[in-house]
Amino acid sequence: MADTTTAAAPVETIGADFFDDPHAHYRRWRTTGPVHRVLFPDNVIRWIVIGHAEARAALADPRLRKDTVRADEILRAKRDGTPTDANTMVLLQHMLSTDPPEHTRLRKLVNKAFTTRQVAALRPRIEEITENLLEAMDGHDEVDLMQAFANPLPVTVICELLGVPFDDRDDFQAWTRSLVGVVGEEEGRPAAAAAMAAYLSSLVRAKQSRPAEDLLSQLVLADEGGDRLTDRELVSMAFLLLVAGHETTVNLIGNGVHALLREPTQWAALCADPVGVPEAIEEFLRFDGPVDMATLRFTAEPVTLGGVEIPAGEIVNVALAAANRDPARFTDPDTLTVDGPTAGHLAFGHGIHFCVGAPLARLEAEIAFTALLRRFPDLRLADPAATMHWQTSTLIRGLLDLPVRLR
Ligand code: HEM
Repeated sequence: MADTTTAAAPVETIGADFFDDPHAHYRRWRTTGPVHRVLFPDNVIRWIVIGHAEARAALADPRLRKDTVRADEILRAKRDGTPTDANTMVLLQHMLSTDPPEHTRLRKLVNKAFTTRQVAALRPRIEEITENLLEAMDGHDEVDLMQAFANPLPVTVICELLGVPFDDRDDFQAWTRSLVGVVGEEEGRPAAAAAMAAYLSSLVRAKQSRPAEDLLSQLVLADEGGDRLTDRELVSMAFLLLVAGHETTVNLIGNGVHALLREPTQWAALCADPVGVPEAIEEFLRFDGPVDMATLRFTAEPVTLGGVEIPAGEIVNVALAAANRDPARFTDPDTLTVDGPTAGHLAFGHGIHFCVGAPLARLEAEIAFTALLRRFPDLRLADPAATMHWQTSTLIRGLLDLPVRLR
């Protein structure tokens, strides 16, 4: 057994330079252990798990809980005590921030919609959306791949799946950006939460009066032995699915294309043999996955992780991006190897909260990469020497833009 040490370890800081290269920070922190206390941009000190084995253990540990109300009490006490606005609390009370038995109940209601078989039925429509977007790009020499492709593909898919009007995307994407922890946008958060909650409430009401053939209508009508979702649960479920359904896959495509274009020989190898795309996607998820520290938990009792005792009532975030580059688990972790072994990454989480949308994300990415490689084999970064602009969010890892040359 490793020695148990307590909170005496120095507190690391996430500053403005973190987002350009989080891995440089994780590499440095790793030299002193797998678990750290870190001061976040919102001035709260959280415990961060960066080792792969410790991350896996933490994600499956029932002593690390999610319940939003309790997590918010802890966070509030660590901030200045000001209460979180009511709309944010409504939006956040979804399955990703509940524990069993509520979690089990909520997850059962959506599981069915996301099985590999159910999702496979979406393939023809996803292929059609993909081809239309690539067709619109053709004819240009240079495009911003985020705007032209990586963003609209998953957003169109999730809108159609849920039954959310695609024309409203500018609004809900702007509110989402405020809500996913982008540094510097904290002030706008209560207004964004209010707008999002009002928007989703009216959408739920519309589905209640005129159910259609979409997932939100199915959830409105869902009845598991007399158990139905309340209006508030419907709003927060819609919020979770809408946000998780687009903020993530967008960046799987963006980060994956970016990583691959930095390795032109691997790009060429995949062009020559697109059968390797599904495995390459697992490597993109490991190498630069879209979700980093959006894994908030709190200790319901003292928990020892990686030899470090974390007291009860502390906030713990698992840094998935760091775990996925732990040299104790992956050989040469900072190198992209699309034809190497791909098992073991934690990009979709682990345990009871393992991503319900993983089959959909994998299918979308497979279709997107296969079509992109086929249509634009000469794709390259517009300026390989240019500095990339990353979102300043600790939850999401993604590019603000990705200028590419198509031929
Ligand atoms: C949960 C990642 C796409 C819906 C999670 C978790 C991760 C994750 C890491 C667990 C977080 C934790 O344990 O705290 C990803 C990644 C995606 C992706 C990397 C894309 C590449 C999607 C999509 C959907 C979705 C497309 C839905 C349409 C969800 C839901 C949960 C979840 C509902 C909560 C599950 C639960 O609490 O049981 N996702 N996700 N995700 N994801 Fe995803």
